[in-house]
Amino acid sequence: MEKILAPSILAGNHANLKNALNIAEQDGRKWIHLDIMDGHFVPNLSFGPQTVADLRRESELFFDVHLMLDNPHLYVDAFARAGADLITIHIEPSYDHLETIHQIRLLDKKVGIAINPSTPIDDILDVINSIELDLVLCMTVNPGFGGQSFIHDVLQKVEKLAAIRDEISSNYMIEVDGGVGPEHIQPCLNAGVDVFVAGTAYYKGNDSERRAFSESVGEKT
Ligand code: DX5
Ligand code: ZN
Repeated sequence: MEKILAPSILAGNHANLKNALNIAEQDGRKWIHLDIMDGHFVPNLSFGPQTVADLRRESELFFDVHLMLDNPHLYVDAFARAGADLITIHIEPSYDHLETIHQIRLLDKKVGIAINPSTPIDDILDVINSIELDLVLCMTVNPGFGGQSFIHDVLQKVEKLAAIRDEISSNYMIEVDGGVGPEHIQPCLNAGVDVFVAGTAYYKGNDSERRAFSESVGEKT
């Protein structure tokens, strides 16, 4: 399966997010990761559909939109209209997960399900077995802020998800998100990671460090 490095724009300069897009494009990236936070599901706020819509007009990148919201079902239409290409929702809040996934599909968008570090894979088995997902996001930090440390134990879940994918002949991509740096790429590749979200480690580096980072992922540009 193709390997992707998705810069997390949360780590960019929010007074000039277009520049963060440009850096990713000039570096040959195909995806950009956009973190949407409601201050309830996570103790932080980021930006909303209007920002995504404005960024959409500036870029052809694949918009990987990560909804860290208590009520994502209320917002999937708005983010789909804003130009998301993939919408990922968390399993932890209580809403109708399958109905919301269907809603995203009807909006003709790719769909992912996300689990926090302490959430067991068992909590998403029903979803995985009920509907074809495009992506499963394994949080490698507790969501809400960039710049945290990578939680290695999550890679055991990645290995299990890769095995389940083979068992049920599914094609979902496995994404890790949070604290990812160059030193984590090989252990993640070994575990079965396909998409690497990186904010701080990507945007704080210089051009040559970014190039080395993306080459270590093996993304074909
Ligand atoms: C955290 C977000 C992550 C974060 C990644 O809640 O979901 O996408 O922005 O940033 P780094 O790579 O700095 O941890
Ligand atoms: Zn994220």
